[in-house]
Amino acid sequence: MSHQEYPTDSPAVVTVGLPYANGDLHVGHLRGYVCGDAYARSLRRIGQQTAFVCGSDMHGTPIAVNAAKEGVSPEEFALEYHEKYEATFPKFNVDFDNYGHTHDETNTEMTKSFVRSWIDNDHVIEKEIQVAWDTEEDQPLPDRFVEGTCPYCGEHARGDECDEGCQRHLEPGEIENPVSTLTGNPAEYRTREHKFLKLSDFQEYLSGFLDRLEGTDNAKNQPREWVEGDLQDLCITRDMEWGIDYPDETDGDGGTTEEDLVLYVWVDAPIEYVSSTKQYTERVGADTYDWEQVWKDDGEIVHVIGRDIIQHHTVFWPAMLKGAAFNEPRSILATGFVNIDGKALSTSRNRAVWADEYLDTDFHPDLFRYYIVTGSGLEKDVDFSWDRFAERVNGELVGNLGNFVYRSLLFAQRNYDGTPDVEVSDDVRERIQQGIEAFEAAVNDYDLRGIGQVAIDLADYGNEYIQRNEPWKLTDDDPERAAQVIRDCVQLSKACAVLMQPVLPETAESLWTQFGEDGQIADAALEEALVAPPAEFDAPDELFSKVEDETVAELNETLRDRVETAAAESDNDTTDEGEDTNMDIEPLADERISFDDFEALDIRVGQIESAEPIEDSDKLVKLEVDIGHEVRQVVAGIQQLHDVDDLPGTKVVLLANMEKAELFGVESNGMVLAAGEEADLLTTHEDAPVGTKVR
Ligand code: MSP
Ligand code: ZN
Repeated sequence: MSHQEYPTDSPAVVTVGLPYANGDLHVGHLRGYVCGDAYARSLRRIGQQTAFVCGSDMHGTPIAVNAAKEGVSPEEFALEYHEKYEATFPKFNVDFDNYGHTHDETNTEMTKSFVRSWIDNDHVIEKEIQVAWDTEEDQPLPDRFVEGTCPYCGEHARGDECDEGCQRHLEPGEIENPVSTLTGNPAEYRTREHKFLKLSDFQEYLSGFLDRLEGTDNAKNQPREWVEGDLQDLCITRDMEWGIDYPDETDGDGGTTEEDLVLYVWVDAPIEYVSSTKQYTERVGADTYDWEQVWKDDGEIVHVIGRDIIQHHTVFWPAMLKGAAFNEPRSILATGFVNIDGKALSTSRNRAVWADEYLDTDFHPDLFRYYIVTGSGLEKDVDFSWDRFAERVNGELVGNLGNFVYRSLLFAQRNYDGTPDVEVSDDVRERIQQGIEAFEAAVNDYDLRGIGQVAIDLADYGNEYIQRNEPWKLTDDDPERAAQVIRDCVQLSKACAVLMQPVLPETAESLWTQFGEDGQIADAALEEALVAPPAEFDAPDELFSKVEDETVAELNETLRDRVETAAAESDNDTTDEGEDTNMDIEPLADERISFDDFEALDIRVGQIESAEPIEDSDKLVKLEVDIGHEVRQVVAGIQQLHDVDDLPGTKVVLLANMEKAELFGVESNGMVLAAGEEADLLTTHEDAPVGTKVR
């Protein structure tokens, strides 16, 4: 089944991954919220009825742990962040139609009704499992209360996710070498009874679902291997007090609940997407927007998330929906991460650019939106950089888009009091029509960058058009031609306003007001791009202000200091929460090689006879290495890392059948093996003679 193109006759909902109410928002989080907002606005722009909803994720162990540290209740702790987020989003022009939270009554009830449906449909089973236990504290250790080794890839992992390695969700009891994060003691495994959602019931369904799923390639492809392999049942309960109680069969009408068993945070979190939509309907009325049609019938469900939570949204969540006879997502857009210098942001180490910090700069929120939405393809990881930010703003927004609109409107206002009274030329009309089509295509391709690019391309065309026609030279000699050129530029400017609106909503609105247009630009149809603006308008204001070099220099300095402090802290502290420890270690290769492939490598023990730096290169050293049969000349990039004079006599390991190469005019006949950036030379442990084969 393939989906109908947008706009369809069904209502759509766009959601973004709920922020854990557990710390300040940074530019990484904002990437998703801004992209989600821009996409919701884009859908509306092409005539798709759309609600944009989200909420705070209030449950889970980190919140319980942090609240305890601060000596407040988890609810109080989480609500404070919830309120902060609610106030922050509008400052980035991220305007949710509803912003709830997972602990509110709507979501508590909705979650319990989902679980009851699973129970009624025989998708829930009870199993005895091994859960990690802290013997000193005498308490179970769910999720992030325990850390250890990932059974799939061997990386250091948290109790419920392999955050530093293969990114897999981990079930209780799966982590190896469990250590309590409460006491640092090795944890014991104890037998407990828990409830499971039988994911295996949905194996075939999920495979079909992935065939239908639209969105980014990572979201469509990564889950394949999980769905095609054995699907483990999902443990949906935890031994905790903070969370939504597991409803047993008699709960609801004055019944009881299972003691101390709450639902796993990943059960009630995505259900908040539904609850938040329901709250929106409760506010506007089902005649305006019907949450039940969306979630139980034929709505277009679009989830925007970060790439770290793909498995939850492409495997667990569709199964949860199906198990309760709900509609399925149409598309999942998984954004890449925002990093700094190629490394993950870290909340605990203050290695981030914070939302509040951006707001303190007084840069317009639309500038950030433009930078983050159009800086790269949606799936790509990006480095946040103030230099790049300034470059894009000053070049594309100030220099191109802002400049074109300003000069056009100023010229029009001075010479014609507004829009010249002639028809738009065919070429320009056609160019705008092309822009509209490019916009519609980008929306259907979930191409956020493409969406943001349309207005910029139009302005580019406009600047070139105005430059080519030089209307300022025509006003006296050929006034008709001058009026035509300016009329065209005014229309191009209005088209820019309409098409830039999803990414630059406040700027577009102010341009709309400058034109003296009625109503709000958000309510104007896409075709308004081709409708003449009012005959008279006032002198324009500049749309964007330049980002000054000094400001960028200051911001860079602050960020550099912060990154250095964070690096120093991480050197001193190798056993912290593991947010970004080991981020430098390259991921393990997925593909296995055969023993034969390995045998094809002729690896030998050698001994360095002589070593001398290669002229003109500050890295390379020419080595003579004895490998038993012969002495090989090898070039190695180890000059800065080793004292060259000390190298002779050192045992090394050498790949003897490496193809020959020439570096700085010196032949290299073999390769000495070394580990990592520091080129730590491999050697032998005992005294294997020179020439011995390594196997
Ligand atoms: N609460 C869960 C999501 C539940 S959705 C039913 C969660 N919370 S989070 O606070 O850790 O992240 C919120 C959103 O921000 C998620 O979509 C996550 O993928 C995204 N990101 C968090 N850090 C990010 C970056 N550094 N870069 C890009 N997106 C990031 O996960
Ligand atoms: Zn792993």
